[in-house]
Amino acid sequence: MSAAGERRVRVGLGARSYDVVIGSGLLGRAGALLAPLLDAQRRVVVVADATVATLHLDRLRAGLGRNALDVVTVPGGEATKSWAQLEQLVDRLLAMTIDRHTLLVALGGGVIGDLAGFAAAILLRGLDVVQLPTTLLAQVDSSVGGKTGINTAAGKNMVGSFHQPKRVLADIDCLATLPPRELRAGYAEMVKHAAIADRPMFEWFEAQGPAVLAGDAAARAIAVEHSCVTKARIVGADEREGGVRAHLNFGHTFGHALEAETGFGDRLLHGEAVGLGMVLAMRLSERVLGCPADETARLAAHLSASGLPTRLGEIAGGRIDARAAMTHMAVDKKARAGRPSFILARRLGEVCRVDDVDPALVAAVFEAAA
Ligand code: NAD
Ligand code: GLY
Repeated sequence: MSAAGERRVRVGLGARSYDVVIGSGLLGRAGALLAPLLDAQRRVVVVADATVATLHLDRLRAGLGRNALDVVTVPGGEATKSWAQLEQLVDRLLAMTIDRHTLLVALGGGVIGDLAGFAAAILLRGLDVVQLPTTLLAQVDSSVGGKTGINTAAGKNMVGSFHQPKRVLADIDCLATLPPRELRAGYAEMVKHAAIADRPMFEWFEAQGPAVLAGDAAARAIAVEHSCVTKARIVGADEREGGVRAHLNFGHTFGHALEAETGFGDRLLHGEAVGLGMVLAMRLSERVLGCPADETARLAAHLSASGLPTRLGEIAGGRIDARAAMTHMAVDKKARAGRPSFILARRLGEVCRVDDVDPALVAAVFEAAA
């Protein structure tokens, strides 16, 4: 930890390595924290979630200490990860006569990070981007690792690229304004990191999760740092998901199917879908890998105690059609020849990829989770 109380996690990717800085008051010190990227000639354009801009942009503006700061706002929420919003954003940025030295700064949750990151990847064949994640989900997951993209009619994140940020500033003060449901959704992604690779951290969450959710700053900083360490280690080992990075998709095959079936909206947030998807993946793991049922029960109990849905019946707005949800799995971008791929667990903290799962077992898992 630095003198200013920041924690730093290095994402080691050779010439594209970068730091994730975690702590309080980072937006207000953004000028200093981003100094190596900010020469006087460099134009900075902030792409901000419209809600976040009203809450946190002034702190960033003061922290950057720039008189002329261009800001483009876009709406938050999953619908923004679309061709239409991407086109609008790209056109607005080009109309500002940006150049290849322009630095994009993404201020918002995973939606803004993914959209602005993708715009940075394709504009003028690639601009530098800095991620300033303001949701818990974005701080522990989406801002780290360089995945960017949008959703299409065919499904989630179907168009995108790997485009690593130059730096990430995860200011935990931003979490104070985050709606509790969004906070819990991000918490599910932290539990995911522990569940795939860090059993002691899962045990820590069982004890300290309530403090993290209640707003204890020290507990939050530890949790965010730990999650980023796990993610950075995995991304550093396998940036383009040829192997171990796929483990980060634990809960996602079921989760994406549920998000698609519920319309990528307010019925089921991404992190909630991942939480529920992890419980279903554990049930499948029992059938495929002999994972002890106690492990599933333990994960489900913790997620449920944290206020997250663990059964399909808890999703608002009507019954989920399991067969329809399964059809989305065939077009998931991780599917091969129409067969979905799953990350399954031998136990909490130990997962592997399984490609050839009998669809009848998947259907049985859906039915048992009604
Ligand atoms: P989001 O960006 O839509 O933010 C959720 C809501 O919180 C929005 O309404 C937003 O306006 C609001 N908000 C954001 N910060 C706030 C703050 N500090 N105070 C008050 N309100 C705030 O959603 P998200 O959960 O952050 O991100 C979900 C997206 O992330 C999904 O599209 C998912 O696919 C993507 N994702 C990407 C990766 C990756 O590796 N790139 C990983 C995980 C998830
Ligand atoms: N969220 C999955 C990944 O970054 O690979």
